[in-house]
Amino acid sequence: IPAPAPGPLRFDGPKLAEDREHAFKPMKKDDLRGPCPGLNTLAAHGYLPRNGVATPAEIIQASMEGFNMENNLARFTTYAAHLLDGNVVTDLLSIGAKTPKTGPDPDAVALVAGLRNHGTFEGDASVTRADAFFGDNFSFNQTLFDQFVDFSDRFGNGFYNYSVAAELRFHRVQQGIAENPHFSFAGFRHLTAYAEVTFPVNMFIDGRRTGFERLQLDMQTAETFFKDNRFPKGFFRSEKPSGTEGLDQIFIAHPTQPGRNAGAVNTFTVDNSLGDLGSANGFCSIYTGLANVTIPNLYPNPTGVLRRNLITNLQFLFDGLPKQNNCTQIFPFGSK
Ligand code: HEM
Ligand code: MG
Repeated sequence: IPAPAPGPLRFDGPKLAEDREHAFKPMKKDDLRGPCPGLNTLAAHGYLPRNGVATPAEIIQASMEGFNMENNLARFTTYAAHLLDGNVVTDLLSIGAKTPKTGPDPDAVALVAGLRNHGTFEGDASVTRADAFFGDNFSFNQTLFDQFVDFSDRFGNGFYNYSVAAELRFHRVQQGIAENPHFSFAGFRHLTAYAEVTFPVNMFIDGRRTGFERLQLDMQTAETFFKDNRFPKGFFRSEKPSGTEGLDQIFIAHPTQPGRNAGAVNTFTVDNSLGDLGSANGFCSIYTGLANVTIPNLYPNPTGVLRRNLITNLQFLFDGLPKQNNCTQIFPFGSK
């Protein structure tokens, strides 16, 4: 039976991230890293197992302890990732490539491919990682980081903030449509693409800063997280549990629709069948797409322990949804 989800932190203020138990250590040969600079950093400092394979409970706890990520968001994100890319029988997820370290795969259809897998959680238009079409969807990409710096210069006076996030998010989508014939920006990705660009402001800035300065990420700190996957020396996590603050402002600045290119550049076709962040209940529509379509497609006819654990993890996923959204719960595999 999967371990229950950890609750909120007892002490949820700012705290030194790289303390004695969480020293940075360079990767060893077989350690796994992937497209998420947050999780890569947590593994490099031992908040997560340094080999990059962890249980959902460990990932939630580490995100809270290292970055002060808000409990509901950590749960929703982690269970979505686990259901899309993890092994729900062994309760293990790779933050990087597919690996035998997550145990035997439950059946032929489930991918259990780790967070590097393109098209489940990882998707196009990331700000420091290239689209999978161009070859490498998980490594730090210097050309894209140069663009990140350029946008921060032009729209943030040399700092990354919510205004920069709004411009860069929109630009990466336009770039994808114009350059990647298989550009895909539908369903869950429509949500994560906007959530992710808020994280550097909300969780990569030292929690002891105050006022205007608290929301301005300098380029050296940005590079330390995105490129080196480590906490800057003396860095304190956020001053309060943090998540997707700024998301609405960023979306509204340049609203987009979910969809994909039809095999050629500049053929973007809207597809809101898996949800639409911009619709009346955007968050619920995306949860519904995941639970009704995407996840059941990975697990067409589960039985036994597999089915039981899918039901449990889907419950954990639903429990992580913000209560004020009032989403209707979906039971694709029954309720018990
Ligand atoms: C991107 C997973 C927590 C910061 C990603 C991606 C995945 C992922 C799969 C790649 C998506 C893509 O851009 O294609 C997760 C999971 C988490 C988690 C399962 C568990 C709670 C965090 C935390 C932070 C963070 C705590 C920061 C404090 C980011 C950022 C990106 C990202 C900034 C965008 C990278 C880019 O666009 O270049 N995450 N993440 N994540 N994540 Fe995480
Ligand atoms: Mg990506």
